[in-house]
Amino acid sequence: MKIIIDTDPGVDDALALFYAKTCGAFEIVGLTSVFGNVSIETATENTLWMSEQLGFDAPVAGGARQPLGGIQHEPLPIIHGEYGFGTHGRRRPKTVAVEQDAADFLIEQTAKTPGEITIVALGPLVNVAEALNRDTAFAENVREIVIMGGAYNTPGNVNQYAEANIYNDSISAEVVFSKAKKIRAVGLDITDQILFSRDNLSSMVKYAGSWAPFIKNCCEYYLAFYASKGITAGAGLHDPVTLISLVRPELFNFKTGNVKVVQEGKARGLTRFTLGNGNMKYAASAQHDAVLREFLETLQRLADI
Ligand code: BDR
Ligand code: CA
Repeated sequence: MKIIIDTDPGVDDALALFYAKTCGAFEIVGLTSVFGNVSIETATENTLWMSEQLGFDAPVAGGARQPLGGIQHEPLPIIHGEYGFGTHGRRRPKTVAVEQDAADFLIEQTAKTPGEITIVALGPLVNVAEALNRDTAFAENVREIVIMGGAYNTPGNVNQYAEANIYNDSISAEVVFSKAKKIRAVGLDITDQILFSRDNLSSMVKYAGSWAPFIKNCCEYYLAFYASKGITAGAGLHDPVTLISLVRPELFNFKTGNVKVVQEGKARGLTRFTLGNGNMKYAASAQHDAVLREFLETLQRLADI
């Protein structure tokens, strides 16, 4: 399956990239970066570095630094760390991003092979929204847009209404939900239920080979944030679970319909779902234990990379 991953690394984004590499199900056509968990500069450096280290051999395009509509976004280092990877410092990749920006890269790549490339968006949706706004053919050329985002029948994580990727650019989210032809969304309904625990981390580290110190540091930082919120069972596998919904769709139940994104007031970023014929489906339930097992067993191959 050909995919482009749009990402704001971020601990769970890094875990998703590990899964993308080890699952063997994807041809990674490229990666695009976006502001979100970290600044755009850090997101691009982290994406380049992960791509190099994992041997993706795929171009990276730098994306947007701020949301549409003029709301200024500031990263929250308390969740993922100052440079996105726990207490690890700034990454210094050897490679550089392509000259095109992320939106043009998405447009060009999908136009080369219409109907073949799936875009997996793991951060705020501005790059995808820009691509939809710039080129009307883009919506037709994409195979599917797979989103980690939204809270459909469950509370948010920024506040009781909104999930972070949608809240961090609610205007772009509305552009995507209104203009895209085919969307699969995996939101907090599922990803807040699939937590990795300290025990799970020990087993990940055991099989991680030279990645062990990196994973241990990142995940301990991320687990500490969850613990500080009173969630001691573990930390959310948001972005990896989104990729798993593509590789193991039989582990998920989806509901089809439409989404409107609330733009004003205290519920800004709320994803309001209407069941029926529509351009999107969201994961309404999943086999939580089996999804976690899929993640942990797949990552056992990391030492061989
Ligand atoms: C989403 O927000 C980010 O912090 C995570 O990487 C994930 O994509 C979860 O709400
Ligand atoms: Ca993310």
